Amino acid sequence: MVKVGIIGVGTVGTSVVKILEKNRDIITARAGKEIRVVKGVVRDLSKKRDLTIPLTTDPYEVTDDPSIDIVVELMGGVEEAYKIVRRALENKKAVVTANKALLAYHRYDLKELAQDIPFEFEASVAGGIPIIKALREGLSANHIEAISGIMNGTCNYILTKMAQERVAFDEVLAEAQELGYAEADPTFDIEGYDAAHKLLILASIAYGIDAKPEDILIEGITNIDKLDFEFAQEFGYAIKLLTIAKKRGNEVELRVHPTLVPKDRMIAKVDGVMNGVSVIGDVVGETMYYGPGAGGDATASAVISNIIDIARGGKCSPMLGFKRPLESGMRLAAKD
Ligand code: NAP
Ligand code: HSE
Repeated sequence: MVKVGIIGVGTVGTSVVKILEKNRDIITARAGKEIRVVKGVVRDLSKKRDLTIPLTTDPYEVTDDPSIDIVVELMGGVEEAYKIVRRALENKKAVVTANKALLAYHRYDLKELAQDIPFEFEASVAGGIPIIKALREGLSANHIEAISGIMNGTCNYILTKMAQERVAFDEVLAEAQELGYAEADPTFDIEGYDAAHKLLILASIAYGIDAKPEDILIEGITNIDKLDFEFAQEFGYAIKLLTIAKKRGNEVELRVHPTLVPKDRMIAKVDGVMNGVSVIGDVVGETMYYGPGAGGDATASAVISNIIDIARGGKCSPMLGFKRPLESGMRLAAKD
């Protein structure tokens, strides 16, 4: 049996617990052993929850529990999560996280600390789309020319509803929060930081770029108004928040900003909470990945895939990681 402790049993953590139960048979068969959640950590024990696992408010009860094999960090935030994940790795626990903000700042030091201990983060980019596996494993024969697309479900949900139904920004943002798509602080979504965090993770895997959010150009969707949608519609464009990594020689340009996309392009048709990520390899050409970019169950699908990989006894990526990117000798292009 593999024992799991979940630090943060909110939208994603609750889905992880429920899906491990609902699909227990296939998950046990695929992992080769039973996976059991033995403890969960929350902030507020008095909240009503539809959960039967034992709960505590002390994350170190999980990181320091000798019987726990895998620590799943789903609490969010940067510095507190960093301390907790460090402690778990120091205690030689395998770690799975969906926390892109944590990785945007601490991916290299955590990967360094982890060494051979599994430290996996499939859910940190594009929710349910297994884009990290696709990039690290499926495209490992390619030079990666570009990675681009829609990587924030909340923004895409807002832009789609504003364009198609003319719903007001604040109203759709509240809906996205209600549906569990938005970050605890939705500023991260609408100001483009969340997409930038994801871009930095992909840029590390593909190009070995050790940059922070403040090093790259980031513009969110808060300045887009009704009139912009009317003009875009009239001239045959969709407005999308694009997240872009482009290789030029040995430099990589990284940026996040709203873009007018011709309506006949595939990416223009990625609507609602869906994400769409295009990766161009020199051998394969353009590949495109489409699926739910946010939400409890979609994200839990990616989290559990990492738990299953670890339970099977391996790392998800035996060969490639931040220390061995697909492309080496690359540097970040100037911001503007
Ligand atoms: P959430 O619903 O806000 O859940 C956070 C959970 O962590 C809650 O159970 C909260 O406790 C607990 N928590 C927070 N701070 C804590 C602390 N200091 N001590 C103990 N417990 C604490 O967040 P979420 O949407 O599930 O997201 C979790 C992580 O997954 C974040 O890193 C997020 O960026 C990432 N992610 C989310 C999605 C998505 O679609 N939601 C998709 C991909 C990745 P209470 O329940 O008591 O408040
Ligand atoms: N808030 C994020 C989004 C969650 O809307 O894309 C998924 O990473």
